[in-house]
Parts: sequence; structure tokens; C-alpha cells
Amino acid sequence: MFAKVLQRTVRRSFSSTSNAAKEIKKIGVVGMGSMGHGIVQLSAQSGFEVVAVDLDQNVIDHAMSSINGSLDKLQAKGKLSEEVVAAARANITTSTDLGAAAEDCDLIIEAIVENLPIKLAFYKDLGGLTKAGQILASNTSSYPITEMANASGRPEDVCGLHYFNPVQIMKLVEVVSTEHTSQQTVDAVTAYVEKTGKVGVPCGDSPGFIVNRLLVPYIVQGVAMVARGDAKPDDIDLAMRLGAGYPMGPITLSDYVGNDINLAVMKGWVERFPNDPAFQAPEAMELLEEMVAAGKLGRKTGEGFFKWEGNKRV
Ligand code: CAA
Repeated sequence: MFAKVLQRTVRRSFSSTSNAAKEIKKIGVVGMGSMGHGIVQLSAQSGFEVVAVDLDQNVIDHAMSSINGSLDKLQAKGKLSEEVVAAARANITTSTDLGAAAEDCDLIIEAIVENLPIKLAFYKDLGGLTKAGQILASNTSSYPITEMANASGRPEDVCGLHYFNPVQIMKLVEVVSTEHTSQQTVDAVTAYVEKTGKVGVPCGDSPGFIVNRLLVPYIVQGVAMVARGDAKPDDIDLAMRLGAGYPMGPITLSDYVGNDINLAVMKGWVERFPNDPAFQAPEAMELLEEMVAAGKLGRKTGEGFFKWEGNKRV
């Protein structure tokens, strides 16, 4: 069984084909939340032309202000040259019109709300708005790429590109292929990922792919410890930092990623796999539900388990 899985993954990731992979030059990123605008910045500073798309102009304005602020900081720290920063700014355009924006993109990365019915409706539309050979990639944290691929009507052009928070810093991108994803699609996105300085790790379309399958249940078990009163949030975090070498403990990480995101991921899994004990953590789910209802989403709302100012706990 192991040999079979390994064979499939290796074939998908490294085999060469007679059809050369399409070179990606222009990228559309849809959904200007923290992941979406991070992907825009990363692509633009790596020399790609990028169109940043969102339905809401205010969300685009907020994203552009974060990108510009981050580019300013990188230049001030000497991490990016003045030329690269100027080129990155010039590489970005914005749009609230998905059809017009998608028209000449080689790759469209979707980073919209983590809600499967909304994503499926989006892929149905996007499939109609784009043509064969334009690659569609989802940054979903946990939903099946296969369902989105089928909704698009041309599953060979669809894959997952799963980034990690903060996009500008974390080196990994999971490159998720379904049984329908073409090798040209995998090769083209893998080359794009490498050009942005990230490491692409190939994986299949299983729940949570690699990282979230391990990381989200870990975070949620930490939240369950808080809910039961097993230990204080800061002590749980300190224990995992000093005892396991993690850069952040699970409770800070829950706030950092977003309590709403962790809740949505776990809820999705519980609905889809009600009998899998790995996804059962009722005390944690109840606490996360309460926090999300109270607007305590974590870093992005300034309060979660802890208080935040920007990217820092206060
Ligand atoms: N954007 C851009 N740069 C950032 C940043 C952000 N949001 N946060 C931190 N940085 C930069 C800082 O400016 C700093 O840069 P310099 O070295 O140039 O000064 C550098 O990163 C280190 O930051 P800090 O010194 O402030 O703090 P740190 O050393 O603790 O690093 C961290 C911060 C990189 C976030 C680190 O704590 C870490 O790796 N945490 C774990 C993050 C993690 O697990 N991410 C995955 C989440 S799961 C996910 O995203 C998937 C999903 O689908 C849910």
C-alpha cells in the first residue's frame, strides 16, 4: 500500500511529459484577506504580473495598504532593493470584476472565504469565465480540491496551492493534485512556486493535506485543554515552545491563524467524517463557537485568547 501511494505521488510530482509545462507569467488572486494579499505581494515581488481581485473595493484598498506597508518595511530593512520594490508595486493591478481580470491570467489562485458551497459556486462561475489551459488553484485549508475541480467543468486544470501564514515568511506551499489534475498543471504551478522562493511539497487531495491534518487537530486539542481548565493558555504555549521546540504555542497559533478558520476547518471535517475520532473535540468546538460569536477571532480582530496589535501579542 505504501509503495503504491509513493509511486502515485512521485509520478505526479516529478515525471516529465512530452507536452512542456505552460510558463506562468500573469496571475490573478481572488479574495483579498490575509492569505490572498500575501500571495499577491509574494508574486509581485518575485517578478510576476498580478491582478488582485475582490468583490469589495474597501477590502482591496485595505489589502493594498498592507502590501505597500510591508514592501516599505522590507525596503527599509534592506531585504528588498528599491528597484525590486518599485517593480513589485508596478506589477500589481486591482479589479472588482472577476471576468475581466481573469481573462489573460495563466494562473488564478482562489483565496476566498472558507465555505464549501460558496467555493463550489465560485468554481462553477470561474470555469465558465476562463478557458482551457488557464490554471485554477485553491488555497483552501481543508476542503476537497476534487469537488472544486469538478464544479469548474475542467478538472485537469485545477489543483491546490496551499500557503501558510504569514505567507511572506513561511517557506512551504503544498501542491495538491487530484486524480484529474494534469501533469502540465502540476509542472507549471511547481515552477511558479519555485520562482517565488518557496518550496512546493506535492501531496494528494486528502483532508487537510499534510500540514493541517496534523496541525489543526493539535491546535484544537490545545483549545480543549483551555476549555476543560487543564492548564492556562500561556502555560500550554510555553510548554509546547520549550518542550517541543515550536515557534508559537497552539493557543497563540489559534489566534494567529484565526479562531474562525480553525473552527471552520474542524466543523467541515466533523460534518464530512462524523465517525473519525481524530476530528472529535466537542469542548474545543463549543469554546471556539463562543469566541467567534463574540468577534474574538484572534490577531485579525485584535482579540482572541490573547490581545493583539498588528502581528504582535500585547
Ligand atoms: N508578515 C510579514 N512578516 C512577518 C510577519 C507577517 N505577518 N510576522 C512576522 N514577520 C517577520 C518579522 O518582521 C521578522 O522579520 P525580520 O527577521 O526581518 O525582523 C520575522 O518575520 C520574525 O518575526 P518576529 O521576530 O516578530 O517573531 P518570530 O521570530 O516569532 O517569528 C513567526 C514570527 C514567523 C510568525 C513565527 O512565530 C512562526 O513561525 N510561527 C508559527 C507560524 C505557523 O505555524 N504558521 C502556519 C499556520 S497554519 C496555516 O497557515 C495554514 C492554514 O491553512 C490554517
